[in-house]
Parts: sequence; structure tokens; C-alpha cells
Amino acid sequence: MSIAPEVLKEAAAPSMDRLREELDRTREEVARGNARAVDRQHSLGKRTARERLALLLDEGSFLEIEMLRRHRAQGLGMERQRPHTDGVVAGSGTIDGRRVFVYAQDFTIFGGSLGEAHAQKIQKVMDLALAAGSPFIGLNDSGGARIQEGVQSLNGYGGIFQRNVQASGVIPQIAVVLGPCAGGAAYSTALADFTFMVRDTAQLYLTGPDVVEAVTGERITHAELGGAQVHGTRSGLATFVHEDEESCLAAVRDLVSMLPDNNLSRPPTLPPRGAATESRPRLASIVPVEPNKPYDMRLVLAELLDDGDFLELHQSWAPNVICALGRVDGHVVGVVGNQPTVLAGVLDVTASQKAARFVRFCDAFSIPIVTLVDVPGFLPGKEQEHAGVIRHGAKLLYAYCEATVPRIQVVIRKAYGGAYIVMDSRSIGTDLSFAWPTNEIAVMGAEGAVNIIHRKELSAAADPAARRAELLEQYRAELVHPAYTAERGLVDAVIDPVETRSAVARGLSMLRDKRKQTPPRKHGNLPL
Ligand code: HXC
Repeated sequence: MSIAPEVLKEAAAPSMDRLREELDRTREEVARGNARAVDRQHSLGKRTARERLALLLDEGSFLEIEMLRRHRAQGLGMERQRPHTDGVVAGSGTIDGRRVFVYAQDFTIFGGSLGEAHAQKIQKVMDLALAAGSPFIGLNDSGGARIQEGVQSLNGYGGIFQRNVQASGVIPQIAVVLGPCAGGAAYSTALADFTFMVRDTAQLYLTGPDVVEAVTGERITHAELGGAQVHGTRSGLATFVHEDEESCLAAVRDLVSMLPDNNLSRPPTLPPRGAATESRPRLASIVPVEPNKPYDMRLVLAELLDDGDFLELHQSWAPNVICALGRVDGHVVGVVGNQPTVLAGVLDVTASQKAARFVRFCDAFSIPIVTLVDVPGFLPGKEQEHAGVIRHGAKLLYAYCEATVPRIQVVIRKAYGGAYIVMDSRSIGTDLSFAWPTNEIAVMGAEGAVNIIHRKELSAAADPAARRAELLEQYRAELVHPAYTAERGLVDAVIDPVETRSAVARGLSMLRDKRKQTPPRKHGNLPL
């Protein structure tokens, strides 16, 4: 802000009214922005930084900091272009009355690119968010490191990443990608707990199509390289994909309503809606008794959770496992469930990564975990073994083993081998294990087991088919009958499916004040 010369001439000390007018004018101009650039932003199907903040935050709640900040860069004509804000609107506001800290990059100024001042503003809100113990949300729309500011821009990104990591597990961090998010900016989204993308306008990549072509000769569009479809289905970077900015920012508000402010507080609770102890008759008919018949596990989640409502993460990435946030009796829970409609619900490289990260998030932020098990095992084969299914599966194992939040396992149908252990079995520390009468907990399914342990006998049998049928029957009767695991104390109760919601609600209530200490150490060595 500068005081106009006529104001200074008017009197040695300009009146308070004139100073206030001047301030208003400056603030209005800054908020309005450059009309042509704003028109271009709108023509690209994008809103401005301030329009986005208005959608995200409670009306009138935004407190902006450093609106009048300008860069001090010299050279390449930069000293002649010193717009206020330096291309990022930053501050604090509320969502449903709860405080959050935010920045929104302004693509109309230097393409939202990040220079020294821009970075320092983001770092300041990150510091404030951490000090206040409140969620941190970044709205990204940026060409990446501001080329004209050279190493200062890179230094700025480093300071942001350092803060992302310091804040990890202390306050929830949410990255929202609403335009290009290139270069350095992309790493912040990978360090956040949740990343939202808008389908046709958001792109995330380290180097844009021009650089790709120059280096590799490959011609590729922005969307093919790093659009929402790619990150929502292939890379796993986008936790949520939305059709437009309005639905995207509304979904960020919904997500925040399920998260605690920080690692020392608990997620907000809602008054219970409908008795959690009532029976759910539909649960008796959703799941076929035959272990290999598919059904949609989301139908089970809908019966388990309040209002049948849940927020599914990574819906189109590794859909063979479901990770969702919902409520039971008004309290937030994280649900991990195998999805029999996709690859029969096996665990593989990507499913292990997806579920592991979710379990760690829930554990860091005091969200109890309910695990719905119907899993034939880990996906066998060269492709998976060579892709590191052991290493990635170990991430999920590690995540469960170290989780100290209340944990409830519900074995719905099959639970074989290593996948049984990994899906929050008693042996790795679940607090309560329930099983439906359809449960089949075993080293492997009957067919595979009989082929291995009776191979010689079957090849010598006069009627191998009849003998196989007998052996299958014997195996099922002796090793996988509904009470087999309960008799050994590895399942706490075999429950009627219709009682699932009630059993889980009572279990969560029983475990609500659970406390568990882990041995002091600097940190474990998660198999990254
Ligand atoms: C300075 C930039 C900029 C940048 C864009 N602009 N990116 N200014 N530094 N990184 C400016 C443009 O010069 C232009 O200014 C305005 O922003 C709008 O850009 P356009 O190209 O006209 O817009 P559009 O056609 O929509 O394309 C947007 C874009 C493209 C896809 C983002 O600008 C682009 O490819 N930029 C570079 C992306 C990139 O490779 N970034 C990586 C940086 S390296 P005028 O004045 O004309 O309006 C990096 C390393 C960090 O970030 C690594 C840390 C780990």
C-alpha cells in the first residue's frame, strides 16, 4: 500500500478518514485483481483464489495475512512487476465453526508460481496451523517454482516440505489441486494426508509436457501426463476426484467435519442417529454363503455405519480394498474392507499401500479402525512378486501392528493365510474379533489345501473325484467350521450377521478410552 501524493499534500497528517479510504481502495483493488487475468481464469473453467476461499470457508470467517506482501526480486524485469499478495492468498478461517489455516494460489499472478515471498506466506500459515493445532488446507493452482527467482524458489519449496513433514501426524493436511500443480508444488500434495483433484482442470506432474517432449521426445497432453483420471486410478496420488470446484470444495468441508483438529484431540462427534444396537436384517441377505460368490462390500458398510453414509477414499485406485470414513453411534471410525467384486478382494501391491496409509492416518489421529474381512489371500504370481508384494504387504502389516487406536476385526467370510494375519487378526493386536457363521479362517481354501496335502493319495485313487469330495468335506468339517477359530480364542464371538452394527457399536464404546503405550524409540523403520 502507498499513500497517494494528493493525500500527503492535503495535510502534514492526513485525516483518519482519508487513510481509511485509501486502505479500503487498496484492499479492494488487490481483491479485485487484474480484470483480464481474472477473465482468462474464468474462461479456463477455474475460479479465482478468493472465490474458492469463499466456497471453502464459513461466510465472513476469513482472516487474511500479508495481503500487501510483495516480492523483492531483481532482474528479468521483475522489479517493474510487484503485485500485492505475490500470487497467494493466505490466512485462517472456519469450516462449520472450526478453525483451519489455508492458502489459495492465485494463477492470475505469475501463474501462481512460487517465489521467495509467496513461499514465506505459505510457510507462515503452516507455522500458525501447527502452533494452533488446526488443520492445514492448500488450494493449488501453480506453474511451480518461479523461474525468475531461481534458487530462492527452490529454497521456498524446501521450507514448505520441511513443514509438511513436521506437521505430519500432528495436524491433518489437505491438498486441493484446482489447476496446474507442477514441479515443486507436486511434492506437497504427496506429503499431505489427502489430495483432492478436479477432473478436467487439475494436473499434477513434476515436469510439464514441453519438458517431457524435450527430454524424451514423447508428445503427451497435460491430462494424459498428470490429470485427475491418471492420479485417481493409476498413481494413487489423488484421494478424491471431483467433477467441478464447487463439489470439490464442498467435499473438503465434509472431510474436515470428520477429522480432529490435531493428534491430541478427537474427531467431532454427532448425536447418535438411530439406535446403534438395533438389528440390521439386510445383513443376513447381502453376503452369499458360498465363499467365492461376489457381493459389494459397500452394502455391508452402508448397514454398519450411521445413516448408511461414508466417505470412500481412493474409490478408483486399488478398488479391491475399500478404505472409508464413517460414523458409528455418532463417533468417527475408519473402515478397511476387502471388496469381493474386484479381483475377488485379494490383497496386492496397490491395495496394501492404500490400506496401510489409511490405517496409519487413522492411528495418528485417534480414529478407531473397523476391518471387514473377506479375503482369499495375497495375489499370487510373478508380476506381483517382482513388483514387491512382500515389501508393500509388509507396510500394511506394519501399519496394523503399530496402531494403538481401538481396533475391531469382523471376519465376514473367508480369511486365508497371510492375508488373514494382515487384516487385523488377533495375533497382530486387534482388540476385538467378531466372525460371522460364514467365516472360513484357514491357511488356505479347501480346494488348494486338499490338492497339496493329499496329492499322492488323490493321484493313486480309483475314483479321484469322489475321493476329493470326501477329503474336501473332511477338511471343512475339521479345520474351517464356523467355531474353529472361536474355540481357540482367536475370535471373541461368532455373531449373527444382523447383529454386526450392534456388536461393533458396543465394542467401540467399550474401547473408547483405550490407552496403549509403545516402547520409546526415535521411529520405527517402516518398509517404505
Ligand atoms: C514463472 C510462470 C511459471 C513459472 C507459469 N508462469 N509458470 N512464471 N515461473 N514456473 C507464468 C507464465 O509466464 C504466464 O505469465 C502465466 O504464468 C500463465 O502461464 P501460461 O503458460 O500462459 O498459462 P497456461 O497456458 O495455462 O499454462 C500453465 C502451465 C505452464 C502449464 C503451468 O505455464 C507451464 O508449463 N509452466 C511451467 C511448468 C513447470 O514445468 N514448472 C516446473 C518448474 S520447476 P504471463 O505474464 O504471460 O501471464 C520446479 C522445480 C521445483 O518447480 C522442484 C522442487 C522439488
